[in-house]
Amino acid sequence: MATVPGSLHTRKVGREDANTILEVYRQCEDFLVLGPRSKASLDMVLDDIAETESAGGVFNGIFAGRTMIGVFSYVAGGFEGQPANAFIILLMLIPSFRGRGIGTRIVEVVEKRILKNREVTAILSGVQVNNPRALRFWQQNGYRIVGRPELLPDKTTVFHLRKDREQIVK
Ligand SMILES: CC(C)(COP(=O)(O)OP(=O)(O)OC[C@H]1O[C@@H](n2cnc3c(N)ncnc32)[C@H](O)[C@@H]1OP(=O)(O)O)[C@@H](O)C(=O)NCCC(=O)NCCS
Repeated sequence: MATVPGSLHTRKVGREDANTILEVYRQCEDFLVLGPRSKASLDMVLDDIAETESAGGVFNGIFAGRTMIGVFSYVAGGFEGQPANAFIILLMLIPSFRGRGIGTRIVEVVEKRILKNREVTAILSGVQVNNPRALRFWQQNGYRIVGRPELLPDKTTVFHLRKDREQIVK
């Protein structure tokens, strides 16, 4: 378990927490509707956990007291076989906890964890082109768009994002 400033904490969660994670997903359908599967389901949660694991990442819950208020997942290095690359896969907060600086604090926590791996020189992520608020969030946190938007096999179109180690370690 790790403490996030401001009385929140995070911990690794998994299949045993799937029903609690599903509650978070259900409350985030305003975001899911932008993607390939608009309805939250247990299958979606289990698929996301499995995909995180197969990418070599960790899936985490964000808690205010005992209540799960969000999730995030990331690969701390060696993303797609590249030792220098980490990847933030997912960050999602339930609506009543958005816009209060929590996402920014979580990104800082994730960056700190990732940069402990001395081999990593860049943190990558992706954002759907139809999610301008999230794009703004990433840009405010120092992530820049690289290359052109890409149409993925799941029919979503994403901007690829990148932040280099030098931009984080100031
Ligand atoms: C995107 C998200 C993780 C940001 O976390 P947050 O705690 O709300 O963001 P912060 O309070 O740290 O930063 C606020 C900035 O985030 C952006 N933002 C994105 N979505 C937002 C939302 N629903 N509510 C408020 N701010 C949002 C805005 O740019 C805002 O800056 P502004 O007030 O100057 O416009 C969160 O809003 C969320 O979970 N949204 C739904 C899921 C999602 O889009 N995830 C990202 C997928 S790539």
